[in-house]
Amino acid sequence: MAAEKSVILSTKGLTKVFGFGRNKTLAVDQVDIDIYEGEVVSIVGESGSGKTTLAKMLLGLLKPTEGDIYFQGQLRDIRSRKKKKEYWKNIQAIFQDPYSSYNTFQKIDAVLLDCIRMRGNGKLPYEKKVELMTEACSFVNLKFDELTNKYPFELSGGQMQRLMIARIFLLKPKILVADEPTSMIDACSRATILDFLMQLRNEVGMTVIFITHDIGLAYYVSDTVHIMERGKFVESGTADQVILEPKDFCTQRLISDVPKIHEEWDLSTIEYPS
Ligand SMILES: Nc1ncnc2c1ncn2[C@@H]1O[C@H](COP(=O)(O)OP(=O)(O)OP(=O)(O)O)[C@@H](O)[C@H]1O
Ligand SMILES: [Mg+2]
Repeated sequence: MAAEKSVILSTKGLTKVFGFGRNKTLAVDQVDIDIYEGEVVSIVGESGSGKTTLAKMLLGLLKPTEGDIYFQGQLRDIRSRKKKKEYWKNIQAIFQDPYSSYNTFQKIDAVLLDCIRMRGNGKLPYEKKVELMTEACSFVNLKFDELTNKYPFELSGGQMQRLMIARIFLLKPKILVADEPTSMIDACSRATILDFLMQLRNEVGMTVIFITHDIGLAYYVSDTVHIMERGKFVESGTADQVILEPKDFCTQRLISDVPKIHEEWDLSTIEYPS
């Protein structure tokens, strides 16, 4: 029997409130989650359900109003800059809008060199660094030589998404949060990106937290699924449990939004004029 997997990241009563008084929004409401090492966990919910807010708290980009986050069994402490940097070696993100993730004034090789430095390989000879960058680019079918002198805004949306994955390839974090990483691109590139992510997960043994409104995608990629509505988890379980036997009305609604491309059309009820 396989050894028990350990919990890598968990939350207790995690809550985020934005604003005050009449402008108050309860974006995340008492969320408890246990994320196991090596798992792909999807958080699925409609727009505004609190997914990105939750992700940002997990990443340490947003301070919780209430509740605790545990990393590898210990209460997470990122109060100092140094500890925060250390934490970010373990957890990284791919965001909805890839253009927002880069410093506009930094050329692409500088973006990738930063990743090498973050991994503690800043002292390697330059040729070795180029080798690492070339490898990371070719993993996502990009040519490093053609990118070195470009700025991120000179890339297409799809190339930019792939560059983000190349960064993750270099950083090899323990946890990757992918917040709708495929929303900017067409269906074909979307499948490719997902395949890259899954390949990366298998090679590096990364834990992936995948955030989406598309329950079909979640079913395709995840071990565990959590359905989020108005800041709360309304249903959780294995992908099969949640999606094949949905209990909550919200889950059923999300499923009914997915086009049933594999189902045959029922034309029997159509009345043809005689
Ligand atoms: N900085 C902020 N200030 C005030 N309210 C915010 C802020 N960020 C998010 N919210 C609110 O919190 C709620 C949850 O937003 P969030 O971005 O987490 O949703 P989401 O599930 O990621 O939606 P989407 O699928 O559209 O990305 C929304 O009502 C949103 O308006
Ligand atoms: Mg969002």
